[in-house]
Amino acid sequence: MAADSSTLRITPLHKTFIAQVEGVDWTAPISDAIIAEIQKAIDKYGVLVFRKANIDNETQVALTGRFGKLDFMPTVHIKGRFPHTPQIFDLSNLDERGNIILSTNRFLSMSMKGNQLWHADMQYHPHRDKYSILRGVEIPPPGMGGETEFADSRTAYEALSQGWKERVENMVINCSLIHNRRTGAPDLYKDVDPMKWSISRWKAVYPHEGSGRKNLYVTSYGYKIDGMSVEESQKIIGELIAHGTQPQFVYKLSWNNPGDMIMWDNTAVWHRALDDSKFQHKFKRDMRRTNTLDDGPHGWGENDPNNNWRVQVPKDPYAHEKIVPKAAPADLLTAVKVAV
Ligand code: OGA
Ligand code: MN
Repeated sequence: MAADSSTLRITPLHKTFIAQVEGVDWTAPISDAIIAEIQKAIDKYGVLVFRKANIDNETQVALTGRFGKLDFMPTVHIKGRFPHTPQIFDLSNLDERGNIILSTNRFLSMSMKGNQLWHADMQYHPHRDKYSILRGVEIPPPGMGGETEFADSRTAYEALSQGWKERVENMVINCSLIHNRRTGAPDLYKDVDPMKWSISRWKAVYPHEGSGRKNLYVTSYGYKIDGMSVEESQKIIGELIAHGTQPQFVYKLSWNNPGDMIMWDNTAVWHRALDDSKFQHKFKRDMRRTNTLDDGPHGWGENDPNNNWRVQVPKDPYAHEKIVPKAAPADLLTAVKVAV
């Protein structure tokens, strides 16, 4: 069959973004023409849903590589299930042996909570990711949660008032993984100053390469805006996220079958995992993600392309709980002695 633009069936799922794609034969090599069609669709829709793709890790890595240079996962996220495939980012609720993480594993239970805040993948690095491809290998039973939400941050930008558009135009935001994680789980990194750790710098707005439309690039990684206090920054970042996640810009996607796969463009949409309380310690949710780096003109944002670092976080996220109290004043010690 001629590989023309009629090969795939593309069905929009929302008024302004996200589409379902049917017609890819995942059991056969994928032609360049099909890749070009997918590329065109992702440029337009920002998110593509492929139901029952049912591919394996290697195929997912190879597929992702067709859309750009592969990223690999920062060591802070590696749980050890796929030691030979660092390109697979393990987003499951499973430990390295594939068992469900129990609530007694405090850090692993809490460290994924930041994912439930609106974000764009790898904004906390100096070289951002463009595409994410997320595959559901095992999903919780119906009614047990585990959906993923997407927000159309290009349309949200266009809907800003003129005043806001001017305010955000040259705004630069210092972004931090520690900040996101602590917002998701306030026990983590309690007394840590994010500005003393890995900070990536991104403008609030960049043109989206594939469509030319402007995109609001403000998420829960945003910590401090240049020229403002943290408090002022948080207020503005919060208002912009609230603007971009009004119901008319949001689509909630259910994972219906194991093997479902979603591709999104982090430079055109935001996303978040929904509340995990119904399934977290009970049902397996085995999600595996691959990413491409953004090699476009804004891939490094306001960061130095000659300094490619990977995120670092304090070794002990609960260090604040172990601080030894300062020695009691001498007179108090004396008083105690006397009492004894
Ligand atoms: C991700 C992510 C959300 C989810 O894969 O980057 O944020 O629902 N996932 O697992
Ligand atoms: Mn994510």
